[in-house]
Amino acid sequence: MARTAMSPATRGEPAQEPKRSVDELRGTWLRAFRRVRAETEARAAHLSAEDQIVQSMADASPTKWHRAHVTWFFEQFLLVPNDPSYRIFDERFPFLFNSYYVAAGPRHARPQRGLITRPNGEDVAAYRAHVDAAVERLIERVPAAEAARVFTIVEIGLHHEQQHQELLITDILHAFAQNPTDPAYDPKWQVPRATQGPRGYVEIPAGTHAIGHDGDGFCFDNETPFHDELIPHVRLARHLVTNGEWLEFIAAGGYATPSLWLSDGWTTVQTDGLQAPGYWRNKDDSWHVMTLGGLKPVDRATPVQHVSYYEADAFARFAGKHLPSEAEWEVAARTNVLADAFGIAWQWTRSAYLPYPGYRAAEGALGEYNGKFMVSQMVLRGSSLATPEGHERVSYRNFFYPSARWQFSGLRLAEFV
Ligand SMILES: [Fe+2]
Repeated sequence: MARTAMSPATRGEPAQEPKRSVDELRGTWLRAFRRVRAETEARAAHLSAEDQIVQSMADASPTKWHRAHVTWFFEQFLLVPNDPSYRIFDERFPFLFNSYYVAAGPRHARPQRGLITRPNGEDVAAYRAHVDAAVERLIERVPAAEAARVFTIVEIGLHHEQQHQELLITDILHAFAQNPTDPAYDPKWQVPRATQGPRGYVEIPAGTHAIGHDGDGFCFDNETPFHDELIPHVRLARHLVTNGEWLEFIAAGGYATPSLWLSDGWTTVQTDGLQAPGYWRNKDDSWHVMTLGGLKPVDRATPVQHVSYYEADAFARFAGKHLPSEAEWEVAARTNVLADAFGIAWQWTRSAYLPYPGYRAAEGALGEYNGKFMVSQMVLRGSSLATPEGHERVSYRNFFYPSARWQFSGLRLAEFV
């Protein structure tokens, strides 16, 4: 998927400024490239070769595929068009590792990515090394007149890779959750601690508020144009909904009360037999949840995760509240009044994933990144515990189908005044 700030822009790097020399920018992008590529490998290093080939459902991709696909992205969109001396690593790879870019050619069926045992992990490591060397060479040697355009493609490739770093984690958790031995992705992983402090609501005055990306630095095209939204007088919960609150929903028969649910949501409750959030299991008469650290008792103070839009909506109705719109969320987040806006769970909003007024996707294959998905999905805001450092942004728009539960997806409530 596509989704955040990397003016060399990840945290710890200086912001890109017009006055900086091309040579300075070469150094900045080289460091950013190496850092992001290394983070992918660091995440994969927790996993065995067997772990890295499994695909537990059509929506989730194998780790090995993620590692190769983000590499193909640089090969296809950066190296082939901009480096006449570049040699494709393996002519079979574009078919295997193109995700959804129709303009970039035919591709392997997504649900069958887990059947590709060859190329093996070592082949993919060699592919990554080949492309790493070529990208670094291009960053160092691209003519000054071409540098700005080339660095822009490097930047989007790095943000793209960061998105896949998050998916690598969410996808392997789904795979491990199918395993009766409850494997831990990282035995040292800790349950995220929510911000303490008084609960309650923060107020947003009615009126016209501007949202979208409005500054320097990177954003995805779906965060533009910066524009005005008319917002009613609304209050947003300062905190995320917790597991303890969700246990009350379960105890009150939330999953057995059709009047709380959207029709499509009630269908999923019945057909999938839903009784609790994703990865929850009743063991020895108490709720446990599959986490990156293996199976753990459900902690009441931790924000709930792995709920679908349908579940979030039903909970809000149960609580006599609503989900915030994405504009309400962004206006509140811009004033820094929300606890845990970032870093624990993406937050479902009641906003459909639609283009902002005046949005147009770019020409060419990269125009397929976001725009063509603007139907039938819902927007989530914030970021999660799996989001790479520096990838979050207040204007960031994540999006998933309303039934999706394998992301680190939670919610905060809203009420109208
Ligand atoms: Fe991708």
